[in-house]
Amino acid sequence: MKKILLLFIVLFTVWNGGFCVFAQDSLPLIPQAVEVNILNGAFLLSSKTRIIISPANEELVQIAQTFAAELEPLIGSKVEVSFDSIKEPKQAIILRLNDRPNATLGTEGYTLLVSPTRITISANKTVGLFYGIQSLRQLIPVEKQNGQTAVQCVTITDYPHYAWRGLMLDVSRHFFSKEFVKRYIDQMAKYKLNVFHWHLTDNQGWRIEIKGMPELTNIGAWRVPRTGKYWTFEFPESGEKATDGGFYTQEDIREVVEYAGKRFVNIVPEIDIPGHSLAFIASFPEACCTQKQYHVNAGFSHEKDDIVLCLGNEDNFKKLEIIFSQIATLFPGKYIHIGGDEAGKEFWKKCPRCQKRMAEEGLKNEEELQSYFIKRIEKILNSNGKKLVGWDEILEGGLAPEATVMSWRGVKGGITAAKEGHNVIMSPGDNLYLNQLQGDLNIERVYAGGVILRTADIYGYDPLPEGMDAKHLLGAQANLWSEFVASPRLAEYMTWPRALALSEILWSPKSHLNWDNFVPRMEAQFPRFEQAHVNYAPSIYDPIISTVIDQDGQTKIVFKTEIKGLKIYYTFNYTVPDNFAEEYHNDPLTVPKGATDIWAVTYRNGKPAGRLLTINLEELKRRK
Ligand code: ACM
Ligand code: ZN
Repeated sequence: MKKILLLFIVLFTVWNGGFCVFAQDSLPLIPQAVEVNILNGAFLLSSKTRIIISPANEELVQIAQTFAAELEPLIGSKVEVSFDSIKEPKQAIILRLNDRPNATLGTEGYTLLVSPTRITISANKTVGLFYGIQSLRQLIPVEKQNGQTAVQCVTITDYPHYAWRGLMLDVSRHFFSKEFVKRYIDQMAKYKLNVFHWHLTDNQGWRIEIKGMPELTNIGAWRVPRTGKYWTFEFPESGEKATDGGFYTQEDIREVVEYAGKRFVNIVPEIDIPGHSLAFIASFPEACCTQKQYHVNAGFSHEKDDIVLCLGNEDNFKKLEIIFSQIATLFPGKYIHIGGDEAGKEFWKKCPRCQKRMAEEGLKNEEELQSYFIKRIEKILNSNGKKLVGWDEILEGGLAPEATVMSWRGVKGGITAAKEGHNVIMSPGDNLYLNQLQGDLNIERVYAGGVILRTADIYGYDPLPEGMDAKHLLGAQANLWSEFVASPRLAEYMTWPRALALSEILWSPKSHLNWDNFVPRMEAQFPRFEQAHVNYAPSIYDPIISTVIDQDGQTKIVFKTEIKGLKIYYTFNYTVPDNFAEEYHNDPLTVPKGATDIWAVTYRNGKPAGRLLTINLEELKRRK
């Protein structure tokens, strides 16, 4: 019998490509690793634990020391980092760069071996070791158990599916401090997200110091203070001071770039032109076709988005040359994002300077004028050794020769760009915009338009659309626009845990993606967020309500939940339900006569799980 069982295990393991699929369920790893094999036993962290690096290079010393500092509070003593020639040192965490590259691992991959006597992380490059450490950190329990910190013995081989695993933060609509930006990047890196797209300029504020252009940060970074709901605010009163805002000095930028670099996060700065440029225009009124003085937009209820840069004004190109040469020096990555989205064409149609430019350059329409502009900007970037990324509007009038397209208005732009041989990053608004609600408005209370984009929806998103050649898809990115994100706490809430789903769909092989399997691994991160005071959303636990019309034309109520294992309890009588109230089973509910509102909660294993949902039934019927 034992032999048969052994044979079965061997066959099963071989059949599954040499790793144990069952085992993955019990490792609290996000993103899921490519191959996991759980072994017997555990490595105990103790005061004897030390980190050994090989070879002894500066980058390795630095990641080892950062990791040592993270281990120290857990262990309660100093963790030594050393270079050791002893072949098989005990009680050690060994970080080793491969002498000969392991082709499977590529640049970012790693292997992680935990045995009772030592932990070994190997990789071709330091970034791979860094990712191995991030996985190891997730295998180290948040708290001691029985006075010990035990790491499950395991072998892992892991590498990413996509190269571009991005998050965008809009610091224009609301300014976020450099400390917060660093914290945001730190969290990203823990989940192997590697591109931080920094939306630095927009109509609502210019956020980066440019030497020789103090107007941009003296004027463009500030707006009149308004508190409440964005897009309802009044224009400045006569003489009112613009006191709300902020910007990063070049020193701040260098500090954040260095911080990100140590976490292998590449920063892609965005200077959004020729639309979304009001902060620039407010600083230099002659930059606009109208040459009028405008105010930096504070979320005004009346202001058209068509205030754009004049593309007939040569001085704008001179200014942009200076700006991009400084941006190129500050940011070491190869990409600079130039926006290009939502540029209104009305000003250009009426502007003699723009029309003159079109005549001189033989441009048939304003789309071609925009394309002329983007192509000139691309030349500026290229001459600074950088590549251009832009939103999918840069397709209008013809793409710049080397441009990379970020597809946000669905996937069409991305598919077209790839067909033309350009690289693409997927970022469609309905699938990856983190400013969208992640649960019921009546619970979330966050003002956000559009669709509800739950963690499960992001998890179900496949960045590779049908009809697109995978070789042109660099990856994908989720974007947090901040019109309605007025605080750092809310920025975190809108990001986590949805960015965990993003991390997994971009890193893990498609064959490993399974929502039910992901859920407990996601929940295992929540105590880590709590420990780090990261404000994550508990929306996955909330009840989801909708309606159906039955054969008699009667509206009935349907509940579901985003994750399995939740029970739903409800009332129609203005009583906060608990687990002794009516339980919802699968059948749609008939509304009792006279009822005006329904209240609902969820429980798991007899304990409250989600938040209270209250909704007026007429309001519910009006919902789409
Ligand atoms: C965008 O959402 N306007 C890129
Ligand atoms: Zn013009």
